[in-house]
Amino acid sequence: MRDDLGALGVVEKDSPFPFPIKRVYFLYDVPADAVRGSHAHKALHQLIIPIAGSFRVALDDGRTRSDFLLSSPDQGLTVPPGYWRTLHDFTAGSAALVLASEEYDPTDYIRDYDAFVAWASRG
Ligand code: TYD
Repeated sequence: MRDDLGALGVVEKDSPFPFPIKRVYFLYDVPADAVRGSHAHKALHQLIIPIAGSFRVALDDGRTRSDFLLSSPDQGLTVPPGYWRTLHDFTAGSAALVLASEEYDPTDYIRDYDAFVAWASRG
């Protein structure tokens, strides 16, 4: 919603959404040279929203890599399970809001790239 006083974004529990939201977390104060992520999830769905500044998200399904610039709070990126993701090139003062389909579960992470490629090509 936008008016003369600015813009306001809302997500409600029963908003039409590709997945039920069980967790919200946010990244901020990320140094410009930092690369965050560098892992994949086996089951987690996420929506990443750049609520301030901009950053890039690289997604890799084990075969193809795509790189997205997130630079507007009205345009988020949905990341389904099974993508190796890196978040990089954060501008000063930028922040990411992440809506996630599951509570935090360290066993859902794949943190080794070769293990991810083997998992992604499991057939
Ligand atoms: P991680 O998911 O690796 O962050 P990023 O992908 O942004 O680099 O998480 C960093 C640390 O924070 C790790 O020790 C796990 C912890 N963490 C939680 O405890 N709860 C959470 O919901 C998240 C996302 C991370």
